[in-house]
Amino acid sequence: MPVIRVLPHPDLCPQGGEFELQRGASLCEGLLQAGIAIEHACDMVAACATCHVHVRAGGDSLAEPDDEENDELDNAWGIDAQSRLACCVRLRDGDITVELPRHSRNHARER
Ligand code: FES
Repeated sequence: MPVIRVLPHPDLCPQGGEFELQRGASLCEGLLQAGIAIEHACDMVAACATCHVHVRAGGDSLAEPDDEENDELDNAWGIDAQSRLACCVRLRDGDITVELPRHSRNHARER
């Protein structure tokens, strides 16, 4: 099974994290199941951008974002070339490394 590595985030995951996820599983659901409380205000239907993550390694193993995901990503804070919506990412065979943004669209988390 693919391994998900999560870089440390001061609020959501201070020590970082690592877990396995079934091929085809939702990254957003996997993060939540692993105890990482990523926001998902639209209930994972690609309509809020609060589940924005940066896929820092392994992104080549994932399907490209579709138009719906790209359109909603434009509303996320701090997007870059590695930005994805976690609710749109389905794991394939490769391991990935994920960074959670310091801010989401709902809350400023900077300290
Ligand atoms: S949970 Fe709303 S866009 Fe992913």
